[in-house]
Amino acid sequence: MKVILAKQAGFCFGVKRATKLAFEAAGKDQNTYTLGPIIHSPQVVGKLENLGIRALDSLDGMDHGTIIIRSHGVELNAITEAQQKNLNIVDATCPFVKKAQDHVKSLSQTGYGVVVVGDADHPEVQGIVSYGGEKVYVVASGDDVKKLPKMNKIGIVAQTTQSFENLKNVVCECLLRGGEIRVFNTICDATAVRQEEAKKLAGKVDCMLVIGGFNSANTRRLLEVCAELQPRTYHIETAAERVGVTAGASTPKWIIDEVMNKIEELNKSD
Ligand code: F3S
Repeated sequence: MKVILAKQAGFCFGVKRATKLAFEAAGKDQNTYTLGPIIHSPQVVGKLENLGIRALDSLDGMDHGTIIIRSHGVELNAITEAQQKNLNIVDATCPFVKKAQDHVKSLSQTGYGVVVVGDADHPEVQGIVSYGGEKVYVVASGDDVKKLPKMNKIGIVAQTTQSFENLKNVVCECLLRGGEIRVFNTICDATAVRQEEAKKLAGKVDCMLVIGGFNSANTRRLLEVCAELQPRTYHIETAAERVGVTAGASTPKWIIDEVMNKIEELNKSD
């Protein structure tokens, strides 16, 4: 059995940076928390908890200490609240997400209606939107643009994990609505690169494992992409998961032994 690990598997630049900042903060201040889970990995969140850093849903009960801002950012009012409470802020927002937030802010300030291409329920998008004024609209696709009010000046940014194709469709729809259009391509290619490589791999193997948090949207998307090409694709979170093996009535014992030995070997080489 040959096991191939994709070259671009695992932490992207922003997640690596956020995790590093969080682990560095551990031990410096007894009252250190993250606002929301630092990244979508229950195991990393668990490790930080063991070091005394817990994830908070809000800053309500916090009046001193250090707050770490997660990789995909938070809403502006949470930052303001932390500043007003004089908390020590460790901003682990990915610089690419920060860029999208900054563009929304400056577009709003210069009179543009802002279109954010993305998933309205995703915390990254909610964070990005919060940096704008009143006229900020989230659209999931080009079709959603048809429902927007008329605007003379439209500024467009995207959730970092959007596909280029979708951004292009939204831009085309906005062009049809006339006016002046400014587009900032804020898509981060880490997701696309992972998906492309995973597709290639899924097309040439007999079984594919996708490792990642069950709550991670990008892991689930990777699963979908692989499953389209390889129906035997499985989502696992850790090495602790169990594997069952059975065999048909006509399967010789030596084949079963070979498979079992191979799996046991893989287990031992950890
Ligand atoms: Fe990662 Fe930042 Fe891109 S968190 S996926 S490098 S936007």
